[in-house]
Amino acid sequence: MAAPQRKHDTEASLPRGLIFDAVSVCEAAAIASAQLRGLGDEKAADQVAVDSMRRALNTLPIRGTIVIGEGERDEAPMLYIGETVGLGTGPAIDIALDPLEGTTITAKSLPGAMTTIAFATEGGFLHAPDVYMYKLAVGPDVPFGVMDVDLSVADNLARLAEAKGATVADMTVCILDRPRHEQLIADVRATGARISLIDDGDVSAVIAVADPNSGIDMYIGSGGAPEGVLAAAALRCLGGHIIGKLLFRNDEERARAKKAGITDLDRKYSTMDMASGHVLFAATGVTSGNLVQGVRFNRNVAMTHSVVMDSRAGQVRMVETVHPDYPVLARG
Ligand code: FBP
Repeated sequence: MAAPQRKHDTEASLPRGLIFDAVSVCEAAAIASAQLRGLGDEKAADQVAVDSMRRALNTLPIRGTIVIGEGERDEAPMLYIGETVGLGTGPAIDIALDPLEGTTITAKSLPGAMTTIAFATEGGFLHAPDVYMYKLAVGPDVPFGVMDVDLSVADNLARLAEAKGATVADMTVCILDRPRHEQLIADVRATGARISLIDDGDVSAVIAVADPNSGIDMYIGSGGAPEGVLAAAALRCLGGHIIGKLLFRNDEERARAKKAGITDLDRKYSTMDMASGHVLFAATGVTSGNLVQGVRFNRNVAMTHSVVMDSRAGQVRMVETVHPDYPVLARG
């Protein structure tokens, strides 16, 4: 995959071993939620992922602070924004996480669910409120500044095709299949570009733009702002650009943003605005998708498949782990 963006990196570094800790935290959550695949219970699948991820985080020699988590303190009892995790020793680290990205697809046992975490040096992540974000993402082969969320989708596609030395008809755009995207989908269709519609999971959809083998040239549309920060963390490691703009449906959501310290509600955020400093990103498959394979169980052994990336080293590792005697969940 592509080289990392080293520009604007601050001096502070994350400890080397943390990359393996990031994987083990995601693996623990994936093994738990994979046991609830296809049972139709989104909440339970999410809860076991949260519990396992939190337990695993609390064994690490870090002073971690959740910046992107399960919600505000009064609405999420665990992994809430501002919660401190880890053994309370070692470096201060900011954490963005989604213990189960794709709760519905896990409950329905559909492809593409994964557990995700990103670590950054202190102050590295945008404190994004839990509102929607309009996102536009392209790969590292498109120079910074070519795309702009304020342009029409037709203009963006024309610029994208030109940057890639191709035609708009050669472009494939990934969009979340939602009624709110009806006009966007019509606008893309009018250009002659192809559309890859997904049911859920825009973190891996954004990551796909940085993978030349994915066949995805651009991701566009609105999804969760916290997922936008996680996707930005991954693109910091892989190269590529995401532009995000927060969307507010009411005053309560605007108040949420203000509480998170956001003063300019119309601001456009770049990859670097959302994830700066030294960043690590990890994800483990719960169900199989384009990025990672789902957990496989065989007798008393679980096998996990993860991806882990480092913005400084520019390394992307695919990690397969065999877990003998994994914790088996009691099914009531
Ligand atoms: P969950 O893991 O919370 O189910 O989120 C899945 C997801 O598809 C995200 O990837 C995306 O950002 C968001 O939901 C989109 O929200 P909505 O389902 O409201 O359109």
